[in-house]
Amino acid sequence: MSTGDLQFPAGFLWGVATASYQVEGAATVDGRGPSIWDAFCRRPGAVTHGHNGDVACDQYHRYPEDVELMRRLGVGAYRFSLAWPRIFPAGGGTPNPAGFDYYKRLLDELQRAGIAAAVTLYHWDLPLALQDAGGWANRDTALRFADYAGHCFGALGDRVDTWFTLNEPYCSAILGYLEGVHAPGIRDRAAAYRAVHHLNLGHGLAVQAYRASPSAAAATPAPGSGAARGIGPVLNLLATRPASARAEDADAADRAQDLQSRMFFDPIFGRGYPERHLASYPQAPLPVEPGDLEIIAAPVDFLGLNYYWEEAVQADPESPHGFRFAVQWQPVTDMGWPVVPGGLLRQLRWVQQRCGALPLYVTENGCAAADRLNADGTRCADRPRIDYLRGHLAACSQALQEGIPLAGYFLWSLIDNFEWSFGYTKRFGIVYCDYTDLRRVPKDSYYFYRDVIASHV
Ligand code: FCB
Repeated sequence: MSTGDLQFPAGFLWGVATASYQVEGAATVDGRGPSIWDAFCRRPGAVTHGHNGDVACDQYHRYPEDVELMRRLGVGAYRFSLAWPRIFPAGGGTPNPAGFDYYKRLLDELQRAGIAAAVTLYHWDLPLALQDAGGWANRDTALRFADYAGHCFGALGDRVDTWFTLNEPYCSAILGYLEGVHAPGIRDRAAAYRAVHHLNLGHGLAVQAYRASPSAAAATPAPGSGAARGIGPVLNLLATRPASARAEDADAADRAQDLQSRMFFDPIFGRGYPERHLASYPQAPLPVEPGDLEIIAAPVDFLGLNYYWEEAVQADPESPHGFRFAVQWQPVTDMGWPVVPGGLLRQLRWVQQRCGALPLYVTENGCAAADRLNADGTRCADRPRIDYLRGHLAACSQALQEGIPLAGYFLWSLIDNFEWSFGYTKRFGIVYCDYTDLRRVPKDSYYFYRDVIASHV
């Protein structure tokens, strides 16, 4: 299969991504405490078929097999997250050594395979004990997060070069506290906006804790892996394009980004909060204290972007913010998300215009498909995923030709896993997981990605 239309520089970082609750399983093993997702999954109707992450892909026990799959794939880095409730089963206090031991075993295995670690500190599995005290709506959670992060830098900093603070804080705050479709399942705008600010604050405090930790200076990047040393956030900015050439649609496409993009991107990059958005919700004030904005804007080393699709936006004077999402005609993935590779290029340009030379990573990109194994269970032909990946890799290649400082790409996901409120019904992996026996079967897209990497390292 030709991959020749793609151009990537030597040193470009190729990776795959997962997250703790989605793959680890072993939910009660070695002292792990409950997280908000353990509780949310048990709420009737919250997750399709009542699925939960108790077993997931059992990566907790099967990590050697998964690392071997990555080694044969040829990736330079594995992006995974630490489960806060493994390390602090009740959210704070004294760390549980068995929690760190698991991640040390995983990191050692990665090191033996020559794969760098890109570690996300928080990918949504808040210790349940902290939720009982208000979760992210409570300022104290931001302080607990910084404390937890400091322990992680201390215990794992000699093995990890690349740190990410929060994964998609928009989803934590808005899906979790406003729409109620993610844990903790709350529907309260005032609580959601408090959560927005405390997540941003937690990010900034963790960056400060990193700068103060000896590991910030001590870590040595894995030779030739291309992994950057440092810390940054992972944001899922809302990608938008105007539905037409009309000026009012261009304005609408810009405004549509306020809640999902600017409530996070702007304060983190020293621009403060988007006042025009806040003005619409006087009943949901942000609990900003003196000095907070400086903490949130602590300089970062890079920015991670998760990109899946783009919205076309139309001006609509009837709707509360003056816009609505227009019907699109692109093919959609199994999530119903339109396939718009050009949106990734537009988003990378948007960010570069504002962040200049800051290195960028695509920290997630991928597609769900209704994958099935063939009759003898040895192969999974996932042509739609290959087409999706090819288009989005071409967008990355184009961004690089334009001089955008894109340093790496992490495919979501290494393996089919627990897709939040959709349970196990949506498959994003380039490796098929047979949930009856946890057997792993590389899909055709695994071999496609392997060949892309092999021809560009
Ligand atoms: C992102 C999440 C990730 C995964 C993908 C499909 O929003 O960060 O955990 O569920 O979507």
